[in-house]
Amino acid sequence: MHTSTSAFTTPVFLAAYGESYTMLGMRDLKIKTQLKKSYVFKVLLQGEIYEIEGNIFRLKINEAAPLRARYEVPDVLIKEPTTQKLSLSQKEGGVLVLTSVNEDYKLRVTANPFQVELQFKDETVLSMNSNGLLYFEHLQPPPSDRYSLWQEKFGSFLDIKAHGPSSVGMDFSLHGFDHLYGIPQHTESLLLKNTSDGDAYRLYNLDIFGHKIHDKIGIYGSVPLLIAHKPDRTLGIFWLNSSETLVDINTKAVPEHIPTESAADISKQRAVPLTDVRWMSESGIIDVFLLMGPTAFDIFRQFAQLTGTQALPPLFSLGYHQCRWNYEDEQDVKAVDAGFDEHDIPYDVIWLDIEHTDGKRYFTWDKKKFQNPKRMQELLRKKKRKLVVIVDPHIKADPMYTLYSQGKEKGYFVKDRNGKDFEGICWPGSSYYLDFTNPEVRKWYADQFAFKTYKGSTNILFVWNDMNEPSVFKGAELTMQKDAVHYNNWEHRELHNLYGFYQQMATAEGLIKRSSGKERPFVLTRSFFAGSQKYGAVWTGDNTAEWGYLKISIPMLLTISMAGISFCGADVGGFIGDPEPELLVRWYQAGAYQPFFRGHSNMKSKRREPWLFGEKNTQIIREAIRERYVLLPYLYTLFYRAHTEAEPVMRPLWIEFPEKLETFGVEDEYMLGNALLVYPVTDKEAKAVSVLLPGSKEVRVIQSCSAFQPTQIYYTIPIFQRGGTVIPLKTAAGKSTEWMTNISYELRVALNTEACAVGELYLDDGHSFQYLHKKQFLFRKFTFHKNILSSSCTDESGQYRTTCVVERVIFLGLGQQPTLVTACSKGNEPTFILLHLVILILLHSYVYIWHI
Ligand code: GLC
Repeated sequence: MHTSTSAFTTPVFLAAYGESYTMLGMRDLKIKTQLKKSYVFKVLLQGEIYEIEGNIFRLKINEAAPLRARYEVPDVLIKEPTTQKLSLSQKEGGVLVLTSVNEDYKLRVTANPFQVELQFKDETVLSMNSNGLLYFEHLQPPPSDRYSLWQEKFGSFLDIKAHGPSSVGMDFSLHGFDHLYGIPQHTESLLLKNTSDGDAYRLYNLDIFGHKIHDKIGIYGSVPLLIAHKPDRTLGIFWLNSSETLVDINTKAVPEHIPTESAADISKQRAVPLTDVRWMSESGIIDVFLLMGPTAFDIFRQFAQLTGTQALPPLFSLGYHQCRWNYEDEQDVKAVDAGFDEHDIPYDVIWLDIEHTDGKRYFTWDKKKFQNPKRMQELLRKKKRKLVVIVDPHIKADPMYTLYSQGKEKGYFVKDRNGKDFEGICWPGSSYYLDFTNPEVRKWYADQFAFKTYKGSTNILFVWNDMNEPSVFKGAELTMQKDAVHYNNWEHRELHNLYGFYQQMATAEGLIKRSSGKERPFVLTRSFFAGSQKYGAVWTGDNTAEWGYLKISIPMLLTISMAGISFCGADVGGFIGDPEPELLVRWYQAGAYQPFFRGHSNMKSKRREPWLFGEKNTQIIREAIRERYVLLPYLYTLFYRAHTEAEPVMRPLWIEFPEKLETFGVEDEYMLGNALLVYPVTDKEAKAVSVLLPGSKEVRVIQSCSAFQPTQIYYTIPIFQRGGTVIPLKTAAGKSTEWMTNISYELRVALNTEACAVGELYLDDGHSFQYLHKKQFLFRKFTFHKNILSSSCTDESGQYRTTCVVERVIFLGLGQQPTLVTACSKGNEPTFILLHLVILILLHSYVYIWHI
């Protein structure tokens, strides 16, 4: 199915009625739902409803006896979810009522027509199939006019569906909700829009060079998680399907439901919002998880319980990355590296794009340009820096290239519909595509990263997976044909959105393996799916050096973050074209406060290392990058929370202020953790910006202090620290993260109206898995209460020795100068020694005009 055609409109009449139910074991209640005769076919569908520990419900619908197995997404759920026993509280007249373990939720399952209503304390929160849009194209034997529905034309491409049409779909009504988020990746606003104009959100991973902004076509990656929010509840719908998917959204106002006994009050009936969400997928089964929150943080935890949390990044990867297509040769790398030192700008990683290889044969080096890659890496190592190289999934057709010859011999390439290796065109010309869905291929691929196999690689080399939608030049929509065939005979259409997920999984495993399980990997991927957070970072692909792309990068990153992938970023400066200096500077200032921070440019763009735009601009970029380095302890702590608690590092305002309606649509500012509010300036020649500081009596939002204050009025972005928080910083930036190990800490304490504040610092060796296996970490909590700042242990199980001290504590909002300050320590606790104290005064304001 391609969007322009109509597989979904094929009439399949499903009128289901609940006939019988069977208890399966002690834990699951399985409901068999028989399809009433559909006038044409008689097909039995089987629906299963589960309650999963932690306020999650799962509905699975499949054919009871399909002609062949239908695709069920593997490898995305980290384990088979633990189900709980729903109890049957009513069964009459074709209605089943199932009650959750805690008795808070009821599921009313109606047989004819098939509908499921989810109620919380007797109030309907969500209903399924209330618009009767349940679709299930059952598998059929080939018709006599075999090519009617079994093939589709897309431009000059013919897609032959080996097993016929098999789309699925269903509608969900969200009662009382009109603020929806999620389902990345689109170049769209934070709030999902109504699609009544027929322009549905599409989830289909594509490489669209020079993609437009404000477009609902899917680019690069997909996470089928939709989040709905109202002041007292957040809920999530996770539609686990990896085929092409469309999502339609339609919000309307409906009369408020008034219980019959108060019918007299009908005149007072208000209009309340109701949002219909319709999911449609080209193939697979219906497997949907209802994440019942009730808070946004609960949704993040519930999603992570299913798909995993963000991998804890090695510390270096939170520093600044310098990339370009291409750094030409060893000499160029050396010169750019030296340029950073010369201009006193910190950075951690230099990147090599496709030209570093021998004719786009990944895992090799261009022998003329990179004669001695190990020597180059040793130089970087001495500078305490790293190298990232690109490794794309397509394999050049060249019998002399080991990856090709082995791949071919072992049958590791994706096949075309006729059983031959699928041939496509990509950077190297004629290419073949590794079938990463095959576990054996993934293992073999992971082994390619072994130091002895990947010649010229060392342990400071990390990896960038690109073009893994997969990108197939001259392919239908520049990707692989849907009738290509994978491992176990699955058609590409079933698993298209998983291809990049699997490549990143295999790469991350390879990097872990080459270190015998000791070191954390760093892998950046362009294509992603639900669960990609377990394997590393993602970026938003080929953006353009224009102001609109800087602006849209904020809602795009917020949406990816809410979908579980905290480690995300956009190419600083814009990949395509040449940014004017002001745009470049503004992009650095924004990127410095985003999770993944990399400058990158196209081969046709002019060089743009940070010092090429005059002394004044160099100075501002230097300041922005240094601020990033000073902020690293806070950022690393946030990543630890993302890793352990599934809290997004970068988050929309409404997540921190869930009751404040005015925050629900805010997408030009955001929170970094719970403590910092960031307002990147995304307009040319902006002289002032209006910042919304949501506040209340309990939570005051205050202006941040020195490091963030304008040294030169024109060139800063507003950063605010929230009252009641403590953030850990470094007192200075170093040449790279590794140079900063011994730089002391600063605590910045911003008091709330009760003159209290709390915050945390997480600390470990920054690169190994010892934090996990040997509990080598420190997790401290700082509390300011009744004029005492204390440091305690957040997690007693962790131990880590550091010589690094807290050198400075800055108070914001103390109100008056203290007359006496004493420092004391308990036993041999303190890794932290207090040396100085600086006091700053609180600013009260909720909407603050920051003159820039
Ligand atoms: C793709 C990537 C881009 C990279 C280029 C060459 O366009 O998105 O980042 O530089 O390929 O490898």
